[in-house]
Amino acid sequence: MQASTVRSPIATITGLGSYLPARKLTNGDLEAMVDTSDEWIVERTGIHERRLAAPEQATSDLAVEAASLALADAGVTAGDLDLIIVATATPDHLFPSTACLVQKALGARQIPAMDVSAACTGFIYALAVAEGAIAAGRAETVLVVGAETLSRITDYQDRKTCVLFGDGAGAVVVRRASSPDHGILSVFLGADGAGADILKLPAGGSRLPASTGTVSERLHFIHMDGQEVFKFAVGAMIRSVRESLKSAGLTPSGIDLLVPHQANARIVDAAVRLLRLPGGKVFHTIEDYGNMSSASVPVSLDAARRQGRLVRGAVTVMVAFGAGMTYGGAVVRWDAPRQRQGDQEI
Ligand code: UT7
Repeated sequence: MQASTVRSPIATITGLGSYLPARKLTNGDLEAMVDTSDEWIVERTGIHERRLAAPEQATSDLAVEAASLALADAGVTAGDLDLIIVATATPDHLFPSTACLVQKALGARQIPAMDVSAACTGFIYALAVAEGAIAAGRAETVLVVGAETLSRITDYQDRKTCVLFGDGAGAVVVRRASSPDHGILSVFLGADGAGADILKLPAGGSRLPASTGTVSERLHFIHMDGQEVFKFAVGAMIRSVRESLKSAGLTPSGIDLLVPHQANARIVDAAVRLLRLPGGKVFHTIEDYGNMSSASVPVSLDAARRQGRLVRGAVTVMVAFGAGMTYGGAVVRWDAPRQRQGDQEI
């Protein structure tokens, strides 16, 4: 999916929105559930609390909230959309796709709607699909959502995983770029299926259909070899940042803001150190929201926007890794045609 030469942007991000459920799960709450401590969680992960969807909320409900905000921010309506892509590892159902449920709830036309399965890298993959659809002339306005209810597949008896994950959704509207140098400059994607076993939801698919045995063995929850994922993650993040920058004709010194997948503050710190990026250029939401898989990047992007960090012209790199193992990065020179209070130009 890489361009061999630096090219003008085909597509741009014109609207952002995010939604976080109100209920908080703090480290103190987790201390009462498993053998852990606030000190261990903060030191090993950087997480203080995460959000949990209400019992009646499914992933599509979170997605619709974020999507509505992104549409309003972009100044478009659901009727303007040509394509809806939802990145999620926690769809409402195995089928139909969560994107079809979002289409219905938003009142969009009978446009194509599909989910992308690339776990925590899902939002970057979905952005690449959106850009490709616009490049191919199949769409002008695309809704891209990263939405998760990870609490539904988290084992709150497993201290090695339950401290990490939270629920949330983020969305962007992607449209054809109108400026020769503002917009999505490049997207880089990769996957290494040899690592498929180190992070997975073992049961519920065709390999291991649901049975009383799979339920009693707790196989419908996330299973993860944390240390192996950690080792993979640092290298994958660095490669994704470097390759996406290379396609954009840039180097790490050209980054104004890095918005990484919020998996573990130590993973991000290690990658940032090796990339020699100043800490002030890295955006974090992990303290408050934990790891929200495909929602981490768009939720963080929206938070950065609210804090006035996405100034027009700023080179923003989004980077992620996830189960698969997948990885990828995207470089955007921020275009803010509908500037909000606090947006500045550089
Ligand atoms: O989106 C991608 C999803 N996943 C990831 O990004 C995960 C990547 N990996 C990680 O973030 C880290 O590996 C973890 C946070 C999961 C674990 O941190 P770690 O520093 O790699 O710890 P560890 O697995 O090496 O465990 C060290 C010790 C062990 O005890 P012993 O064997 O040394 O006695 C664990 O049993 O810490 C123990 N431990 C805990 N202690 C208190 C593991 N989890 C906890 C816990 N509270 N929650």
